[in-house]
Amino acid sequence: MLASKNILLVIGGGIAAFKSLDLIRRLRERGASVTPVLTRAGEEFVTPLSVSALAGTKVFRDLFDLTDEAEMGHIELSRSADLIIVAPATADLMAKMAQGHANDLASTLLLATDTPVLVAPAMNVRMWDHAATQRNISTLKADGIHFVGPNEGDMACGEYGPGRMSEPLEIVAAAEAMLADGPLKGKRVLVTSGPTHEPIDPVRYIANRSSGAQGTAIARALAALGAHVIFVTGPADVPAPGGVEVVQVETAQQMLEAVETALPADAAVFAAAVADWRVASASNSKMKKTKGGLPELKFAENPDILASVAQMKKGRPALVVGFAAETDDVIANATAKRERKGCDWIIANDVSAETGIMGGSENDVNLISNSGSEDWPRMSKAQVADKLANRIAQALA
Ligand code: C5P
Repeated sequence: MLASKNILLVIGGGIAAFKSLDLIRRLRERGASVTPVLTRAGEEFVTPLSVSALAGTKVFRDLFDLTDEAEMGHIELSRSADLIIVAPATADLMAKMAQGHANDLASTLLLATDTPVLVAPAMNVRMWDHAATQRNISTLKADGIHFVGPNEGDMACGEYGPGRMSEPLEIVAAAEAMLADGPLKGKRVLVTSGPTHEPIDPVRYIANRSSGAQGTAIARALAALGAHVIFVTGPADVPAPGGVEVVQVETAQQMLEAVETALPADAAVFAAAVADWRVASASNSKMKKTKGGLPELKFAENPDILASVAQMKKGRPALVVGFAAETDDVIANATAKRERKGCDWIIANDVSAETGIMGGSENDVNLISNSGSEDWPRMSKAQVADKLANRIAQALA
């Protein structure tokens, strides 16, 4: 997917710049050519010599370099690329991008381009959480800039939290998804995934065993066919795929709101294991053990997200796909569920403990549509995802 693509890599000034050296190698391994641009601050972390040696080309550093301008001006530099990757993207560089500043080579070429831009932020957790940074990110997202990461974890500064730059292979996956030129190019597909957490009180919640593996694989497969994927995920075990728009939620109600915000879409795949009930009487303070008494939990029904989208009168996605995780009479129950919910397809699977499917790496499914039930052989969740993505592409063609 990256073969013979031209990637302009802007390396900002952060400690994560060392990972960008590996990123250059990973991109070139896949056949891309990399034109590096190093900011002044970036030069404090990696040397122009190492960047140039790994990229196999010269490094662009200065807006007012007469030789560079004579050879390839900054406008041409950004226009000749298939994709611009900014990694690491510092808080400062993102602020400049959001405000449209053009006072150095990196910010100028980012302003002068209409090429797709992928940003891999890296910064201290407090800087990431700051209202100014979050405001800039919203602006950039609204401007159509794509993001990968940041990840959560230990930081070079000794703190813990979101702000670690994505790993080179995650950035590569995001770049591949953006450049994917498959049958779903131009299509917008919504995917829900993972479990939901329904609070009992501030420290306790009701959850289920969904790992999010199948939904994640589906989002990745759809993006690989060129779709713009909006991935609405509950607190899953597996990390979200690169190259998709990730919306993180906790509860079923938040998931419904995120789904409504993400619509319209050409297709929607509901792979999330949404809790059927929430605790109606969730407490705002931690529930205490009381002598001789057990707490009484009152439940309320959660919204059925799949059914509400499948039965939309206006703006319904052309293809609505649900899942049916069953332990008995799988086909009969799933067929009835398709009717009841009003979706086009149901992917039915047997999640009895002995199948090892829930939380495992394989799946054994039937695709149920208005033309009956189609038995797919047991295969990896990634293969199920690829097959489903291809079927979706055929259906939307
Ligand atoms: O009714 P059941 O939970 O078995 O239906 C499973 C399908 O419905 C899945 O596609 C799941 O994502 C979706 N669902 C939903 N909202 C709910 C419950 C299930 O979207 N509240």
